[in-house]
Amino acid sequence: MPNYDAFLSTAAANLRESAIRKMGTLLAGARDMVSFAPGYPAAEMFAWAEFAEISHELLAGADANALQYGPTRGYKPLVEVLQGVMAERGVKTSPDQFLVTTGSQQGIDLVARVLFDHGDVVLVELPSYVGAITAFRGVGASLVGVPQDTDGIDLEALDRTLLCERADGRRVKALYVVPNFQNPTGLLMSLEKRRRLLEWAERRDVLLIEDDPYRDLYFPDVSAEADTRPIAADDAAGRVIYLSSFSKTLAPGFRVAWMVAPPALAVKLEIAKQAEDLCTGALDQRIVYEACRRGVLARQLPRLRAFYQAKRDAMSASLARHAPGVLTWTPPRGGFFLWARLNRAITAQALLEHASTRGVIFVTGDAFYVDGEGADTLRLSFSAPTSDRIEVGVERLVAAITETTELSRPAAAR
Ligand SMILES: Cc1ncc(COP(=O)(O)O)c(C=O)c1O
Repeated sequence: MPNYDAFLSTAAANLRESAIRKMGTLLAGARDMVSFAPGYPAAEMFAWAEFAEISHELLAGADANALQYGPTRGYKPLVEVLQGVMAERGVKTSPDQFLVTTGSQQGIDLVARVLFDHGDVVLVELPSYVGAITAFRGVGASLVGVPQDTDGIDLEALDRTLLCERADGRRVKALYVVPNFQNPTGLLMSLEKRRRLLEWAERRDVLLIEDDPYRDLYFPDVSAEADTRPIAADDAAGRVIYLSSFSKTLAPGFRVAWMVAPPALAVKLEIAKQAEDLCTGALDQRIVYEACRRGVLARQLPRLRAFYQAKRDAMSASLARHAPGVLTWTPPRGGFFLWARLNRAITAQALLEHASTRGVIFVTGDAFYVDGEGADTLRLSFSAPTSDRIEVGVERLVAAITETTELSRPAAAR
């Protein structure tokens, strides 16, 4: 058999399986596992009946293009809908700024290919979305982390970091942020911070990559739509590349998302997309378009907010019952994730080994840090399990923390 390692590109040799995908393997091998690991939407909330009806109509053959290749920029009627969506979010756009992408993950990868050379610096939040970290590293970019406060990225640290990198002769091109209910921390960036961030980007000549898949999932008890105003909404100078997705609201299986970029960059992103997949699936785009046109999405959103808010409540209540003193956490104001810190002298990695044998898994926080920190943090995703399973999972998690702490003490002290 050939030695395949010898055939790998340098980039491929450096590829590592993501912590979240590894979780998937663990989960596949186990019965009765409670998974707080992947940030999957709850499948029972998908609009199955409406999708079935729409798909049936589309596949009846009236529109031959439904199963054809399509324009790289996206299905035109969908792009028009997206212009409306962006207008509702406060962002004025022109059609030449849009690109429908095969998931926002593709959008992030396209941005990486179009903007970054080997060694270019991309600033990211500490911690940050692992899919973006992988995409940026994939093109050889150098990732530098900036800590966050409770209202988002620390602006003083951000500027210090930028100046430091530039003083070392490195090219800092962009900052990647997830201002709404960030993956993994659930943090919501304040509006004041967004405004100052845009000013900073202009002053320091940096592009902002604003990734916004969770924006519609604010929890009405503690946040409102106005809190989620995109940075792009105030971007008169063309500093922001904005990405959003239907994955968390309609279904991730369609792989339909979009990006809005300054026209000059959109042209390059389009060519880069041609090399990746020519176009996003024509049928998927039409299903999503019809779901928007027929009001399926609009009807879904309030239901989803109430549904995930109740899941957040279930997890907060379970943690309050079982984990006070053991974990520290702040209930999120939207999205899918609760971020927790261990108050015991154990790592989340050691905990995960025990927890998985007890029937609960999560993602260790270190996976989201580009600086090797975060060993005492964990991301608990409450989106998919039922409230009952959340309670079972939290109980198991806390039992595993106790056991792991006990086992990590020197034998003499036990
Ligand atoms: C912050 C963030 N960006 C992008 C994505 C990718 O979403 P999509 O399904 O649209 O590719 C995710 C998915 O979890 C995410 O959390």
